[in-house]
Amino acid sequence: MRIRANILAASALMSVVVLSGAADAAVSSARNFSRKFGVVLTVVQEKCMACHTRNYDLPFYARIPGIKEIIENDYRNGLRALNLTGEFAFNKPLPGKISEVALAKTEWVVLNDTMPPAKFAMVHWGSRLKDGEKKALLDWVRTVRVRYYATGTASEKMAREPLQPMPESVPVDFPKVDIGKKLCEDQRLSVDNTVACATCHDHKKAGTDNRRFSEGVRGQSGNVNAPTVYNALFNVRQFWDGRAADLQEQAGVPPFNPVEMDSRDWDQIIAKFAADAELTEEFKAVYPDGWSGKNITDAIAEYEKILLTPDSRLDKWLRGKGYALSLEEKKGYERFKAYRCATCHVGKAVGGQSFEYMDLKKDYFADRGSPLASDAGLKGFTGKDEDLHKFKVPSLRNVELTWPYFHDGTAETLDEAVRVMGVYLSGLDVPMVDRRLIVAFLRTLTGEYHGQRLGGKAVEN
Ligand code: HEC
Ligand code: HEC
Ligand code: HEC
Repeated sequence: MRIRANILAASALMSVVVLSGAADAAVSSARNFSRKFGVVLTVVQEKCMACHTRNYDLPFYARIPGIKEIIENDYRNGLRALNLTGEFAFNKPLPGKISEVALAKTEWVVLNDTMPPAKFAMVHWGSRLKDGEKKALLDWVRTVRVRYYATGTASEKMAREPLQPMPESVPVDFPKVDIGKKLCEDQRLSVDNTVACATCHDHKKAGTDNRRFSEGVRGQSGNVNAPTVYNALFNVRQFWDGRAADLQEQAGVPPFNPVEMDSRDWDQIIAKFAADAELTEEFKAVYPDGWSGKNITDAIAEYEKILLTPDSRLDKWLRGKGYALSLEEKKGYERFKAYRCATCHVGKAVGGQSFEYMDLKKDYFADRGSPLASDAGLKGFTGKDEDLHKFKVPSLRNVELTWPYFHDGTAETLDEAVRVMGVYLSGLDVPMVDRRLIVAFLRTLTGEYHGQRLGGKAVEN
């Protein structure tokens, strides 16, 4: 009943969308989309949701005697690997728009025929996906990608891929960008005028500092690796633990972090800026209400919107230029997908979309030792136990230049990072030959900033 009702609700919603559209072609394509969505919903609700949604109201398997333990384990691990709570809700502004990550993960398990888990399928006849259902799921994943996530420049074939080209630019307010750039490079944001944002997010180092932990005022260092500011605009939230919602909120944090810039408050910073007549005049031309924390962070965030690195060789290839990647690099991309990498490192930024457990498949923290305060991950922000060891999936754009890797800065080479990912996040050991191919592929993600290839001639502006 509930499933049926949901399908009807989906169709009703689609009609609302459609009626506002008009053209016949649009109507029929929207109907088609809504029909596909209905089919997929039935499959997912019957065969997947029980283990992948929090508080699912009908744990149909819970009463089966003898396999309770397996099932409890499945439920816990299922949720850790993929949480579909809210993904299939009907009250979304865009019906059927589930996240790129959920799409990629679903595609992977269907292609590799791993879900529902074998142990479960053995005792549950009929729980396996039928061929028609698999086809419907795959077709739907690709349809949703093209409809909601394609950035518009991929060739027709590539628009269905989990990775998408980086946009050349996004609309910005240029006077704000100019002032934001100056502020990012201004050491007066720090208490003793020695550290700027650009100190730790250096253009010459692909927006990082290439240190395990950054060095702030008075030579202090923190306990977490500095991610790049390039393409940070596309992150679902900012920081490894997501504690800032967006770039503006993020920009208000480092000035007052005691080991980074250690200023007391905005008044202290603004007193220094206000004494600079030239800068104040320029600032007031853009922000008539003058200096304030809100305006300063607004300008910095606006500047960060231009820190995009399009036109990598991957982008060219996705746009249809077959020669942009070598045979080896194309094989690397296939391995990148086969080893599950593209289920988390997905979309135009090749990551940045979700939070995942660093100990998903094996206890990374026990193996590494030497606990760090930053290991808490998302739990450090939400306080919830279930968020322990969850980190924002980093973007892999320009990754060959952003070493060392991980929140703890422990992996110094890409080969090591790929090995660790295989063991702890993919649950698949990646042999050296395949690591080599994946690393070759990762090097094709190096883009251009203002027309200059990163890491080549030093990028100055
Ligand atoms: C009986 C519970 C159960 C059912 C039913 C189930 N899953 Fe899973 N799922 C799990 C568990 C447990 C994991 C964790 C990985 C593992 O242990 O194999 C998982 C992992 C996943 C993952 C993450 C990738 C991975 O392999 O780790 C995806 C994606 C997924 N499931 C999708 C689905 C889809 C789609 C369906 C429906 C066709 C489904 N699952 C049905 C229990 C379930
Ligand atoms: C002392 C070095 C240092 C300074 C100065 C600094 N940062 Fe950072 N930045 C870091 C570190 C370390 C992190 C990661 C912290 C975390 O996730 O907990 C970070 C994270 C970020 C992020 C989030 C990126 C992501 O992928 O989540 C952005 C954006 C950013 N910084 C921009 C700025 C701006 C803007 C300034 C100046 C107002 C600044 N930073 C000053 C070291 C620094
Ligand atoms: C289940 C999601 C998931 C899968 C699968 C996954 N990753 Fe990751 N990846 C992450 C997360 C989360 C991090 C950050 C972890 C941390 O720093 O604690 C990360 C970090 C990385 C980094 C370091 C980037 C940086 O800037 O520090 C690289 C490189 C990387 N992954 C490559 C891969 C490759 C290659 C694969 C496939 C073999 C893969 N990942 C599979 C989630 C995933």
